[in-house]
Amino acid sequence: PLVSSKEMFKKAYGKYAIGAFNVNNMEILQGVIEAAKEEKAPLILQISAGARKYAKQVYLMKLIEAAVEDAPDVPVCVHLDHGDSFELCKTVIDAGFTSVMIDGSHLPFEENVKLTKQVVDYAHPRGVVVEGELGRLVGVEEHVVVSEKEASYTDPDKAVEFVERTGVDSLAIAIGTSHGAYKFKGEPKLDFERLHEIAKRLPNFPLVLHGASSVLQEFVQKANQYGGKLSGAQGVPEDMIRKATTMGVCKVNIDTDLRLAVTATIREIFALHPEEFDPRKYLGPAREAVKKLVKHKMRNVLGCSGQ
Ligand code: G3H
Ligand code: 13P
Ligand code: NA
Ligand code: ZN
Repeated sequence: PLVSSKEMFKKAYGKYAIGAFNVNNMEILQGVIEAAKEEKAPLILQISAGARKYAKQVYLMKLIEAAVEDAPDVPVCVHLDHGDSFELCKTVIDAGFTSVMIDGSHLPFEENVKLTKQVVDYAHPRGVVVEGELGRLVGVEEHVVVSEKEASYTDPDKAVEFVERTGVDSLAIAIGTSHGAYKFKGEPKLDFERLHEIAKRLPNFPLVLHGASSVLQEFVQKANQYGGKLSGAQGVPEDMIRKATTMGVCKVNIDTDLRLAVTATIREIFALHPEEFDPRKYLGPAREAVKKLVKHKMRNVLGCSGQ
């Protein structure tokens, strides 16, 4: 059934996390939902503004409706990823999303509070939950020095004030992760001390980790072997994600790993079978690769299998 993430997070807190997977088309969605079915895992499907633009919201919603019908035992939350305005959040709430993110992390604190609270005030009476964000995710491609990067991390005291004043249901935090396939230049490092401080000040409050793909080297290597150019791609090691799930992180956002699984698979088929031109012959295996990857995440990294 279609549910909000409220019960999922309550049950998961401190023990495991729910995977929030970005979906942009039918094959990715089918790969993800099949994995959740087989793993008996709760699931968050997230749709970005870019996904809405690419596929049209109505197509994605009908596909998700079909997925929920096809997997009646899987609790599915439909979440707006990185909502950037009240209007967008309102639009998707009216269309049946069960959860929205309002990302005011680039705004000054007071404006972030105001915008986030406005969304909460619209969402809550309609049974929809809201994720806010405090702190900014800075990637290696943004060419900032370490001190600047750390200055963008979430302030634990501000996090408490933000949650109290907005009434958000979960909070995305910045502790060193970033979006995309190039997260670290040298050794991967997350600020677990900071995560601990935030969680200590917000007991039992669900935290969210964006930019949490691990950038599996098996896919990077396969893509590169068959003509890709992804040198230096590096993600968050799986043991760090595992650790975060025991420290109050209840939602782990994953998009890049799905993209890499799809791309590596298709590149290999194109290279090895250049005579092939039936899209099902490469989109099918790509869907299978997504399913295998998501099963691995649920079972071995997030710990949400069987929950
Ligand atoms: O946070 C970014 C997600 O990976 C979504 O990416 O905006 O390209 O759909 P997108
Ligand atoms: P990745 O780029 O690490 O997959 O992060 C995705 C994300 O945070 C979506 O909101
Ligand atoms: Na999100
Ligand atoms: Zn994100």
